[in-house]
Amino acid sequence: MSTGFENIPNGKNDKPFLLMDPTVKVTYDINNIDGMYYMLDKRFQGCLVLPFSKAIDVKKGGTVQVNGNDAYYFIKSLANAGGVFMLGIDVMSYLTDYDQKVDILVADFYDTDGNKMEEKRFDVTAESSNLPTQEQQLSEQEQTALKSAEEGIVLLKNDNQVLPLKDDEILNVFGTAFHKFRTSTVGAGKINPRFTINFKDGISNYSNFALNTQISDLYKFGKELLPDQGLVKKAKELSDIGIVVLSRASGENFDNSTRKGEYYLTDDEKNLLKFVSDNFTKSILILNVGYPIDMSFIKQCNIDGIIYSGYGGMFAGQALVEILDGRVTPSARLPFTWAFDYTDYPASKNFYNSVGKNIPLGADDNHLWVNTHYEEDIYVGYRYFQTFNKSVAFPFGYGLSYTAFEQKVTEFKHDEKDISVTVKVKNNGLSDGKEVVQFYVKKQIENIKEVPAIELVDFLKTDLLKVGEEQVLQTDVPLKQLAVFDEKKSQYVVDSGKYLFYIGKNVEQCQLVGEVDVTKPIIVKTVEHLMQPNQKIERLSKNDLEGTYPKGLKSGINKGATGIEPRGKRKNYSFKFDKASSAKRILFPDIVKDLTKSQAFVSQFNLEELARIVICGSHGWGMEGIGEAGRVYKLDGYDFPKFIVSDGNSGININEKNIGLPSSVSISASFSKALTEKVGRAIGLEARKHDVQLILAPAFNIQRNPLNGRNPEYFSEDPFLSGTMAGYYCKGLESTGVGGCYKHFIANNAEAARKRNQSIISERALRDIYIKNFEIALSVHQPKSVMTAYNSVNGVETSADPELLIGILRKELGFDGFIMTDWSTDSEVDFIRILAAGNNWITPGSNDSTYTDKVIAAVKDGRLSIEMLQNSALYIIKNVAKIIKSERSNEAV
Ligand code: BGC
Repeated sequence: MSTGFENIPNGKNDKPFLLMDPTVKVTYDINNIDGMYYMLDKRFQGCLVLPFSKAIDVKKGGTVQVNGNDAYYFIKSLANAGGVFMLGIDVMSYLTDYDQKVDILVADFYDTDGNKMEEKRFDVTAESSNLPTQEQQLSEQEQTALKSAEEGIVLLKNDNQVLPLKDDEILNVFGTAFHKFRTSTVGAGKINPRFTINFKDGISNYSNFALNTQISDLYKFGKELLPDQGLVKKAKELSDIGIVVLSRASGENFDNSTRKGEYYLTDDEKNLLKFVSDNFTKSILILNVGYPIDMSFIKQCNIDGIIYSGYGGMFAGQALVEILDGRVTPSARLPFTWAFDYTDYPASKNFYNSVGKNIPLGADDNHLWVNTHYEEDIYVGYRYFQTFNKSVAFPFGYGLSYTAFEQKVTEFKHDEKDISVTVKVKNNGLSDGKEVVQFYVKKQIENIKEVPAIELVDFLKTDLLKVGEEQVLQTDVPLKQLAVFDEKKSQYVVDSGKYLFYIGKNVEQCQLVGEVDVTKPIIVKTVEHLMQPNQKIERLSKNDLEGTYPKGLKSGINKGATGIEPRGKRKNYSFKFDKASSAKRILFPDIVKDLTKSQAFVSQFNLEELARIVICGSHGWGMEGIGEAGRVYKLDGYDFPKFIVSDGNSGININEKNIGLPSSVSISASFSKALTEKVGRAIGLEARKHDVQLILAPAFNIQRNPLNGRNPEYFSEDPFLSGTMAGYYCKGLESTGVGGCYKHFIANNAEAARKRNQSIISERALRDIYIKNFEIALSVHQPKSVMTAYNSVNGVETSADPELLIGILRKELGFDGFIMTDWSTDSEVDFIRILAAGNNWITPGSNDSTYTDKVIAAVKDGRLSIEMLQNSALYIIKNVAKIIKSERSNEAV
C-alpha cells in the first residue's frame, strides 16, 4: 500500500510554503485518526499532514498554533520520495466531535537556503458524521458489516455478571481512546467507509445509555488524567459503572514494540485502570486493540468485565453498545492465545523488537538485512502453551457468553476416511445466543516425536438459539487431515498410534469424546524436499525445554550484510508452451465466450506483448483512477477490458467511500464459516459497485508474534482456523464474480525491513504451519490469484523461489490462478529473476517501457525463456477472462 507522497512536486518554488489548495476546505476525519501517514511514521497519528514545497530547516523549526495555543507538530523528510518535507499538526487533541472547527497558524519556518516562509492561517473542520438514520434500510453488505462486528467482539471477563448492563444506565467512560476509537487497521487493510459509528455515536444514537460527559470530556485532550474527587463523587452518584477504553493502532509498514504505550500499558493507563476498578462497583475495560497487548495488569487490578472489541469496522460502536446492553449475546472466541506477558511467547526471542538499542525499523527504512530464526518451530501459539503447560491470560478459542450452553455428543464414529462427531447444543441459559463447538485432537503417536499436545481440527457455530432451543451440529474430519510432515522421509503421514478426539469450549476446556487407533502409518503424500534451510536451526523440543527454548542468538540485524545468504541447493524448473494456432485473429471477447481459446489467444502475442502483459500497468501506486493498487495492462488491438485490482481485506481500499467491515482477526473471532463467507461476498458486491475486478485479499499469514504490525489483518495463529477462514472469505468474494488473492505467500510475519527480512524455518514448520494454512485455504476454495510475500525464506526471496512457486504451489497444491509479486518487491529483487522463478505478474510495474524493455532484453540474452513468459501470460489471461466472464454473466468465478 502506498501513501501517495511519492508524487508530490518538490523544490520547484522559490519560497517555501505549505502545499495547500486555497480553494479546498481543509478537513479532518475524527474516525480516521491514524490516517494513511501513520504508515510513514507513527508520530503522524492524529495529525493533519501537509507537504512543504521545499526542503525545510528542521532544526530551526517554526510556529504552529491551534486556536491560538502552541501545538504539537512534527516534520518528516521523506528521502525516498525525492526529499518531500511533510508537516504533521496534531489536530486530534482539538477535534473530537463532528463539524468542530479550529483555526491554525503555521509560521516562521525557513527553507534550507535561509528563506523565511510567509505566515499561513487556515481553518480545519472535522468532517460531518453521515450516520444513517434509524429508518434507513441497510444494504446486504452493511447488514453483514453489522453482523460481523457483533460476532467479532469477545467477552473475556464477566465477574459477578457485571454485563450486560441495564439499557438505560449512565456510563462514566474514561480514557482518551474513547475519543480516538479505532475501527480499522492501517495500510492495505484500511477501510474507507461511507460512515462510521464510533463508540460515542453508538451510545448517543444506537442505545438508551446516557453518557456522563463530565468524565468523558476530560479525555479529549490526549491525557489519561485521574479526575478530581469532586468529579468522581458526582460520577458515582450518577452511576456505579466505570468503563475504561484502551486503544492501540496497528498496521502495515511498522511492527509494534514492547515500549509502554504499545505492547505495555503506560503508567497513566495502569493508574487509570486501578482508579476505576477501585472506585466503581462495576468496572469494565474495553480493549480497542489490534493485537494482544500486556495482560499482566489483570493480576493487579480487579476489573470486573473485559471486552476485546478489536477493530470493528463501520458499525463498531453500534455492535459494542448492543453487547454492553445485552441486545446481542457475545458469541466470539479468541483466534489467538492472549498471554500474560510478551516474553511468554516463545517467538518473542526471535522477532525484531525496536526497543533499547534496536532502532525503529520500518518496512523501507535503512538498508538493513534482518534474520529471523523460527526457533519455536512448530510450537506456535497454543501449540506452545498447551504442550509446555504454560499458563495464559486467555487461551485460544476462549470467549464468554451471557447465556449457558450444554454441548452433548450424541454420536462418535469413524471409518477409514473420516471421523465424525455429532453434538447436540442446547441453550440452557436465560438469553438467546449462539454457541461455538470446537473440535480438537490429541495425537499419541509412535514414530514422530515432536507433536503439539493438542490441535484444532474443526469448529462449528450454531444459529441464534432461543432460550431452551437446541441444534445438532456434525463434523466430518478427514483422517488424512491428521497427517504430520515427516521431515526425514519427506512424507505427510498419519502416524500409527492413538488419536483422542475432544470437543471444547476453548483449547483448555475440552471433553474427550472418542478415540481412533491407527495401527500402521498411513502415507498421505510423498513430496520432494524443498525449501530446506541453508543453515542449522535450533529448534524447540519437547524432550528438552530448557536446552532448546529459543534464545534468539542468531536473529536480528545481520550486520554488514548486503543480501541474504543464498540457499545452496536449489531446484529449477523448465517450461514448455505449446503454441496453438488459429485461422482467424482471436480477440479478448472471443476467449471470454470460449475459455479454451486462451492458449491460442496467447500464442498470437509477440515478445513485446508478452513483456507487456506480465508487467502490471500502473503509473505509481494508488495514483491513478480511483486510487487502486494496480491494473492489468490493456493491450492494444485485442479489445482488452479494463481490469483493476485493489486492496480490500475489510473494505475496498480506494478513494471512493464504500463498506467497512471488521479487521480479519475479528472476522475470525466469529468462528463462523458462514459469516466469513458472507463477509467475502460483501466485499465482492462493493467491488462490483466500484468496478474493481480483483481484490487483493484475503491476507492470512500466521500470527506468530503479537508485535507484527499486520496481525489484525490476519486471521489466526492456528493454520486450520486461518486457512479455513481465508477459504470461506474468498469463496464468498468470488461468488460475486470478483477475483480474490491469497496473500502473502508465505511467512510475511514481520514488517521490520520486510523486503530484507529472512525467515529461517525448518521444513517441518514450513509445511505444518506456514504453508499449511494456504494448503487448507486452497482446499476450501481456489482463488484466481496468489501474491507472494516480501520476505525471504531459507535463502531465497519468496517472490523468486521456484521451489515455493512451482514445486509447492503449482505442483503439490495444484494452483491454477496467476501469481503476482507484492507491490514494489522488485526494489530489492531483480524482477527478471522473479519472472524466471515462475512468478507471473510484476507489480505495480509501470505503464511505459521501463520494465518491458528489460524483459525483452532478458529474453534476448537468455536469462528468461520465452516459454516462461508465455506461460505467465496464459495464467494471467485465462484468469482475467474467467473473471470478466463471470462479471458479465453475474456468476461466481
Ligand atoms: C502490501 C500488500 C498490498 C499491496 C498493494 C503492499 O504494500 O503488502 O498487502 O496488497 O501493497 O497495495
